[in-house]
Amino acid sequence: MTFPERRLRRLRRTPALRRMVAETRVGVDDLIAPLFVREGISEPQPIESLPGIVQHTRESLRKEVAELAALGIPGVILFGIPARKDPEGSEAWNPDGIVQSALRDLRSDLGNDMVLMGDLCVDEYTDHGHCGVLDANGDVDNDPTLELYARAGVAQADAGADITAPSGMMDGQVAAVRRALDGAGHQAVSILAYAAKYSSALYGPFRDAVDVEIVGGGDRSSYQQDFRNGREALEEVRFDLAEGADMVMVKPALAYLDVIQRTRELTDVPVAAYHVSGEYAMIKAAGANGWIDAERVALEHVTAIKRAGADVILTYLARELAETGALS
Ligand code: PBG
Repeated sequence: MTFPERRLRRLRRTPALRRMVAETRVGVDDLIAPLFVREGISEPQPIESLPGIVQHTRESLRKEVAELAALGIPGVILFGIPARKDPEGSEAWNPDGIVQSALRDLRSDLGNDMVLMGDLCVDEYTDHGHCGVLDANGDVDNDPTLELYARAGVAQADAGADITAPSGMMDGQVAAVRRALDGAGHQAVSILAYAAKYSSALYGPFRDAVDVEIVGGGDRSSYQQDFRNGREALEEVRFDLAEGADMVMVKPALAYLDVIQRTRELTDVPVAAYHVSGEYAMIKAAGANGWIDAERVALEHVTAIKRAGADVILTYLARELAETGALS
């Protein structure tokens, strides 16, 4: 059998050769840890469908974030579970609401050593579980919702967030939040836009984590994207950039690597990808059954996400990846 002169296996022969020619490396600097903080609990609460992840108390959150900072993780994104929910989700902009209080704690503990982000949505705070206010027909009403997002974004910035991340998929949300931040003197606060966020069954464990159940068994397909569409995601990204997004996100990650790649090609701003709760839960569940090697699959997942073009990866794996030294 004859071979061409260049045999591809030559550079795969030893670990050192493979390390030398590796194209993609995920480092701790690429990772953002999503964290949950719950009002009115005295002990951290485990989340059954997210093994290893908890609903934090304010105190346990401080400890966790200090440890993440020591591991070199550059940032965290906070999700709040309030003690009280209402139709508008008013705890999302209460200056003493759970996320705002936690942001102040962390800013005073860590100064500028950690990038502090707030997820900006109202679904954790509304009693019906939708990402906005409802009109007379029970549909999410776009423009009145923008006013709520503006308030919540300013409340997060007032509390010390470096970045606020609108995730509700209302049209015009980035422009509304940017205008409100600037009007409140927060020109230095950035916006990470959940630009291409799909209506995905992979958010299931997250909804357990934040105690959200959508009224009447409804879903978010009238505002989040349809997973059959790829080009539409680029429309979302272009709009968010035109409205002033500093960074854009694709979510979920693994089933949308094509969208990450196309977003990377479309823009030179940092691209983030969210490896979501269901993606994490699948690794953990199969790993617990001994069906896959969970640690190796975890590294394969985050590396694929970076290879597709993400600069920043939001992942529940952040802590363990940093701890186990699995990163290159
Ligand atoms: C909305 C929000 C969701 C997630 C992040 N922000 C849930 C949703 O859109 O229903 C999901 C994250 C995950 O699954 O890890 N506030």
